[in-house]
Amino acid sequence: MGVVLVVLTASFGVTGYSLPWDQIGYWAVKIVTGVPEAIPVIGSSVVELLRGSASVGQSTLTRFYSLHIFVLPLLIALFTLMHFPIIGKQGISDPL
Ligand code: HEM
Repeated sequence: MGVVLVVLTASFGVTGYSLPWDQIGYWAVKIVTGVPEAIPVIGSSVVELLRGSASVGQSTLTRFYSLHIFVLPLLIALFTLMHFPIIGKQGISDPL
C-alpha cells in the first residue's frame, strides 16, 4: 500500500511538471511518454494512449491535467483511507 502511495506521489510530480507547458515541461512530457516505446509489441499503443495522439500536443496536456488534479488525488485519497486502517490493524513493524 505504501509503495502504491509512493508511485502515486511520483506520478503527481511527473504530471504536474508538464502543466506550466513551457519548454522544460513540454520536453519532459515528450521524454516521459516516450519511455514505454521500449516495451515490445504494445509499446507504441501505450505511448499513444498516454499522449492521446501520435505526438505530444493539446490532448497530452489535457490528459496530464486530468490525471494531476482529478484521477491522482482521488486514488491517493482512496489508498490513504485504506492505508491507515491497515496500519491500525497490523501495527508498525519496527518499534518507534
Ligand atoms: C503530492 C501531490 C502533488 C505534487 C507532488 C505536485 C507536483 C506538481 C509540480 C511539480 C508542478 C509543476 C509546478 C511548476 O513547475 O510550476 C505542479 C503543478 C500544478 N499542480 Fe500539482 N502536485 C501535487 C498535487 C496537486 C493537486 C492535489 C492539485 C489540484 C487538485 C494540483 C494542481 C496543480 C496545478 C493546477 C498545477 C499547474 C501550476 C502551473 O501551471 O504553474 N497539484 N504540481
